[in-house]
Amino acid sequence: MNDFKGKVAFITGGASGAGLGQAKVFSEAGCKVVIADIRQDHIDEAMAYFKKKKADVHAIKFDLTDRKAYAAAADEVEKVYGSPPQLLINTAGVNTFGPAEASTYEDFDWVMGVCFGGVLNGMITFVPRMVKAGKGGHIATTSSWGGFMGFANDAPYAAAKAAVNNLMESYYLALKPYGIGVSVLCPTNIRSNIAEAIYTRPKGLAATGYKADEETVDFLRTIHAQGMDPVELAGWLKRGIEQEQLYILPFENAEQMLKDNFQRVLDFSTPAGTRRQDELAKKRTAEMKKRADPYQSTDSGWGKAKPDLTWVQEGARAKKKSK
Ligand SMILES: NC(=O)c1ccc[n+]([C@@H]2O[C@H](COP(=O)([O-])OP(=O)(O)OC[C@H]3O[C@@H](n4cnc5c(N)ncnc54)[C@H](O)[C@@H]3O)[C@@H](O)[C@H]2O)c1
Repeated sequence: MNDFKGKVAFITGGASGAGLGQAKVFSEAGCKVVIADIRQDHIDEAMAYFKKKKADVHAIKFDLTDRKAYAAAADEVEKVYGSPPQLLINTAGVNTFGPAEASTYEDFDWVMGVCFGGVLNGMITFVPRMVKAGKGGHIATTSSWGGFMGFANDAPYAAAKAAVNNLMESYYLALKPYGIGVSVLCPTNIRSNIAEAIYTRPKGLAATGYKADEETVDFLRTIHAQGMDPVELAGWLKRGIEQEQLYILPFENAEQMLKDNFQRVLDFSTPAGTRRQDELAKKRTAEMKKRADPYQSTDSGWGKAKPDLTWVQEGARAKKKSK
């Protein structure tokens, strides 16, 4: 897709962070933009920005895990703009960090429900409508570099993003004959509000095995403040869509990163390679501990055990203290 003028763009999570950056970039490229988000405060702030710009942007408040609400949102787009979107961007996502072994069903249900289920709802709602409209178009999903590997402290998210990457490849192959391109954007850290994701966690899925409190939110804010600017990231996405790329990796050294990643997979398939990777993981953990990086560090207070699991780190700390 090269010409964005007059196209309808539907962006989930479009009121904040990466999605808001995408809304700004595609609105400036001439799209009529729908931002669909669960947080009214994010929507209000974003709409104030677009009003000032006199941009053609429509907001829908919805929870993308609610399939009826998703179908109603799609109907609303057709009512407002006269057609389904030609550009669908699945960007809404949530994250929460904690040790895999302390995870609850609810940790998985919430994160996978939004990050994978939400994308699936977008595809099942919009793909038939886009195909029937016969205008072609493009579908892009914001995944993560985290979808290429496992993480001891971010298992639900990594699993959801791996599933999304794979799903997008299936749709890439399936939708080509209809003139609908498919891309998956895989960033690392983004300057966004994802630190606050727990504020949107449904009450029914509140039971977590992780440490997820205001202290954690504040800590995550400092991490995400160092991330890539969302407008810059959206620029990578736009160029990737123009070039009909399936994978869009917003890094200058993306090819080397992918080669290293697939070397990791190859290594894990032999005994010698596995030992090499285990050593590398140890080194990485030691380096990250020095920087107190929450993605790997076991010393920065991440993870609170479920009551029925004696949290190993607490034990290790206590032992250290008693020495
Ligand atoms: N922040 C990062 O470091 C990072 C890194 C890689 C990938 N990503 C991905 O980027 C995407 C955007 O995240 P972000 O970092 O910009 O975060 P963000 O919190 O700033 O934006 C996400 C938006 O999605 C909305 N949302 C959450 N749950 C929703 C639901 N159930 N229904 C509708 N809307 C919902 C939120 O209200 C929010 O406005 C996510 O898919 C995330 O996984 C983020």
